[in-house]
Amino acid sequence: TPNAAITQCVSLFDLSAVQIKQTLALAHEMKANPANYRQCLAGKSVALLFEKPSLRTRVSFDVGIQQLGGHAVYLDSKQVGPGSRETVTDIANNLACWTQAIVARVYQHTTLQQLAQGRVPVVNALCDEHHPCQTLADLMTLQELYGDDLSQVQLGYVGDGNNVCQSLMLGAAALGLKMRVVTPQGFAPTSEFANQLAQHYPDHNVQVSHALADLDGCDVLYTDTWISMGQEGQGADEKKAQFQPYALTHVLMQQTGAEHVMHCLPAHRDEEIESSLLDNQLDVVLRQAENRMHAQKALLALILQGDMV
Ligand code: CP
Ligand code: NVA
Repeated sequence: TPNAAITQCVSLFDLSAVQIKQTLALAHEMKANPANYRQCLAGKSVALLFEKPSLRTRVSFDVGIQQLGGHAVYLDSKQVGPGSRETVTDIANNLACWTQAIVARVYQHTTLQQLAQGRVPVVNALCDEHHPCQTLADLMTLQELYGDDLSQVQLGYVGDGNNVCQSLMLGAAALGLKMRVVTPQGFAPTSEFANQLAQHYPDHNVQVSHALADLDGCDVLYTDTWISMGQEGQGADEKKAQFQPYALTHVLMQQTGAEHVMHCLPAHRDEEIESSLLDNQLDVVLRQAENRMHAQKALLALILQGDMV
């Protein structure tokens, strides 16, 4: 695939709409025919640097890299100590001596930008502003439900307008989905992000509000935890009380007419999502989790331009 020159994925702003579609197409192909891609990353090593806990991201990268013939090295940031034991830049320069890419889960987006100054490509495995790998898996899942062309699908997001939401807005803009984002007051995506989105995708059809009625007519409703990793304890109880009306419930599904639920997980049952609703919709939610691996395999293969067979 000659026009695939994806150099990094600090956020989905690093990929054009065409490159996002190409990554998704390769992800579907890798999912269907995994045996054809066993040597893509042969001889290559990828550092997985995590400042926060993870189940899905860690396992899906580790197993996915192995399936492509590569080697993953997990680094707990408590051991590596970015900013305390040594600087982020020094870590990046050292990792470049032995690895061909850095996958990093960090608190601050700026840490990823510092890592990306080094000599190897960086993939964002979640920061405060973005979760691009989640979005690629989510778009892949939506394509499995509705077909490759998602322009007729209306996606609703309810909850905190932070990392998962912002990346999803970017993915929706790139693929031409109609998206409605509904957050409590004070938790909309940042204006910096909204401006950047409008610059990259002037014709996007993503609207943000605080009114649950704006979700009427959505085909799919998506939510994420109200208390993101690192926010525990900082007024979490007050935040949960403010978010209560924005819980994803059977009632909201009926009011809006939505047919599917999506959640990036981990879920906090009977907080942002009614537990029995999550159980009813577990097939889609687990498909999102499964597709993390396929989407990330495709992304890494395109970034590292491995031998596809
Ligand atoms: N959705 C997601 O990123 O899950 P983990 O935090 O378990 O990696
Ligand atoms: N918003 C959540 C996403 C977890 C995958 C967090 O940042 O913890």
